[in-house]
Amino acid sequence: MGRVTLFEVTFGIVFMLGMFRSNSANATDTGSGLAIAGEQLDGESLIRMGQKMNSTLLKLLGQSFVNFERKINEKICKIDPCDQWSPWSNCSAKVKNEFGFRSRSRVCWLEQQNACNRTGKQTVENENNFCEGEKCPPSYTSYNSANTCLKLVGVSLNHSAAENFCTQDGGHLFNTDTEEKWNASVTILLSNKVTTAWIDGTRTSVSAKWVFLNGKDPVANGVTSKWDSGEPSNGATELCRAIVKPSGTYYWYDRGCSSTYSFICEV
Ligand SMILES: *[C@@H]1O[C@H](CO)[C@@H](O)[C@H](O)[C@H]1NC(C)=O
Ligand SMILES: *[C@@H]1O[C@H](CO)[C@@H](O)[C@H](O)[C@H]1NC(C)=O
Ligand SMILES: *[C@@H]1O[C@H](CO)[C@@H](O)[C@H](O)[C@H]1NC(C)=O
Ligand SMILES: *[C@@H]1O[C@H](CO)[C@@H](O)[C@H](O)[C@H]1NC(C)=O
Ligand SMILES: *[C@@H]1O[C@H](CO)[C@@H](O)[C@H](O)[C@H]1NC(C)=O
Repeated sequence: MGRVTLFEVTFGIVFMLGMFRSNSANATDTGSGLAIAGEQLDGESLIRMGQKMNSTLLKLLGQSFVNFERKINEKICKIDPCDQWSPWSNCSAKVKNEFGFRSRSRVCWLEQQNACNRTGKQTVENENNFCEGEKCPPSYTSYNSANTCLKLVGVSLNHSAAENFCTQDGGHLFNTDTEEKWNASVTILLSNKVTTAWIDGTRTSVSAKWVFLNGKDPVANGVTSKWDSGEPSNGATELCRAIVKPSGTYYWYDRGCSSTYSFICEV
């Protein structure tokens, strides 16, 4: 490498100042015969300049910038060896005035030698915090004890059309898979004087297991059975679950899926 002359040092400094100035003004410095508008002041571009101008000094300065940047980048990866956080999950509390949890996670490479190239052993970090549920959407009522938002739809539809209807609200047919949810379903049906309504729950044959699109099997989840005596009656086509009040009390009934009833949507 040739010796750096005083002229080159002076020129280099003047040149760099010129670059700073024209960068910040986002202008074109035509005075030196070089168009550098908008160009990033980084080591690579100094090296390119140096090559273009055959300037040892610029190449030297450029190379030291490149090395400097590499060191800074390595420091940054070691200080923050993790990818970005995932978005927060939805709050476990659904209705306003209820508090729940939400969580997010990210992947980290905690072994120093892997921090920059993101290879090798990964560690997943989780973070949780409190959150408040949001208000129920318009036309839905909040049932705080069941932590849910419900709507009784008075239109009579068959079971699958009812599920589709709820889906259009971003919801689903209500699954009464906790005692609180069962109570909420009784409350909403009583207050609307509805005696039969679809809820979540279908089976492919009378001997098959009940399947729920949302939540769990209520009894498996600890809900005491709400089947009326003699129910499910297991009629060959009675493959969908409803809530029915034959006299004073609401119960689960199996009913033919193409029958049309009101239904309860949950969001
Ligand atoms: C660059 O400079 C060196 C020495 O100063 C010279 O030998 C070489 O020919 C020059 N190259 C160009 C492309 O001008
Ligand atoms: C979170 O809520 C939004 C809006 O209600 C919904 O579209 C999305 O599917 C939910 N995400 C999860 C993971 O439940
Ligand atoms: C990642 O970097 C480390 C040290 O910096 C090195 O030993 C390892 O081989 C690199 N792995 C890959 C896949 O480049
Ligand atoms: C459900 O309602 C019944 C009758 O009103 C009540 O006795 C019971 O405590 C309620 N259960 C829950 C979990 O709220
Ligand atoms: C349910 O209703 C929809 C819309 O009216 C209809 O297309 C579908 O065939 C019905 N399904 C059953 C099982 O009755």
